[in-house]
Amino acid sequence: MTFQNILLEQLEAGIYVLTVNRPKALNALNSATLDEIGAAADAVAEDAAARVLLVAGAGDKAFVAGADIAEMQNFTPEEGEAFSARGSRAFSRLEALPVPVIALVNGYALGGGCELALACDWIIASDRAVFGQPEVNLGVSAGFGATQRLPRKIGQARALELLTTGRQMKADEALAIGLVNQIVPAAELMPRGLEIARLIAAKGPIAVRHTKQAVIDGADLEFGAALALQSKLFGDLCGTEDQKEGMRAFLEKRPAKFTGK
Ligand code: CAA
Repeated sequence: MTFQNILLEQLEAGIYVLTVNRPKALNALNSATLDEIGAAADAVAEDAAARVLLVAGAGDKAFVAGADIAEMQNFTPEEGEAFSARGSRAFSRLEALPVPVIALVNGYALGGGCELALACDWIIASDRAVFGQPEVNLGVSAGFGATQRLPRKIGQARALELLTTGRQMKADEALAIGLVNQIVPAAELMPRGLEIARLIAAKGPIAVRHTKQAVIDGADLEFGAALALQSKLFGDLCGTEDQKEGMRAFLEKRPAKFTGK
C-alpha cells in the first residue's frame, strides 16, 4: 500500500512502523494525512500476523506539530466540525487496533500531535520530546480527542491546566504526570521501540490481543460486566494451543513456542 503523507513499513515479522512523513511542515496533520493514518490502521488490523504497531514522526524536530493550521485557517463551522470528526475517526481506528500501538515521540507533539500519541496505547518519549495542547493560542479547542483522552490519562485537573493554558511540557514532566511511560535518549528511541515490540511479538499472540481487548473494551463497561468480559476472554484462551504450549513449557522448564493457534 502506498501513501503520500505517511510511511507504513513492516520492519520484521508482525512489527509495523507508521511514520507521519511531512517533515517540512513538522508532520502537521492535514485531511489527507488523517485519512492515510486511518487507512494504515485498517491495513494493520487486517493482517492476522500483526503483533505491534509503532507510530513515529519523520525528521528530528517533531513527532507531529499539530493539525495543519494552513488548511484550517478559513474553515467554516461545518468544515471545522467535519475536520474534527475526520481526525477523531482516524484516531479511533488506530486506538481500536487489536495489537499494542506504541507512540515514539521525539521533538514536538503539539495539538493534534499530542492527540495522536494519546490515541496510542502508550508513549515512549525521547529526552527531546515536548508535549502540549496549544489550540487555545489559535482560538480553538483540541479537536482530535484530547478533551476526552487527556483527562482519562492524567486526570481532569492536570488536563484542564494543559488544555486551557496551552503551555508546553518537557519529557521529564510528561513522565512525572504519567503521560509517557519512559524517556530514552533520542538516538535510542527507535531501538527501544523495536526492543519492546520484539518482546511483545515473542508472547502468545492471541493472549496479547485478548489482553488489549479486555483493557480497552472493559474501560467502557460497568465494572462487573468488565470482569465478566475478562473471564470470557480468559476462558477463550484456555481453548487455544498456545495456552497448552505455554503452560506445558513452563512445567517442562523450557521456552514456549507459540503458534498463534
Ligand atoms: N500546521 C501547519 N504548518 C505547521 C504547523 C502546523 N501545525 N506547525 C509547523 N508548521 C510549519 C511552519 O508553518 C513552518 O513552515 P514554513 O517553513 O513553510 O514557514 C514549518 O512547519 C516549520 O515550523 P516553524 O518555522 O514554526 O518551526 P519552529 O522551530 O520555529 O517552531 C513549533 C516549531 C513551536 C512547533 C511551531 O512550528 C509551532 O508552534 N507550530 C504550531 C503548533 C500548534 O499550534 N499546534 C496545534 C495546531 S491546532 C490543532 O492541532 C487542532 C486540533 O487539535 C484539531
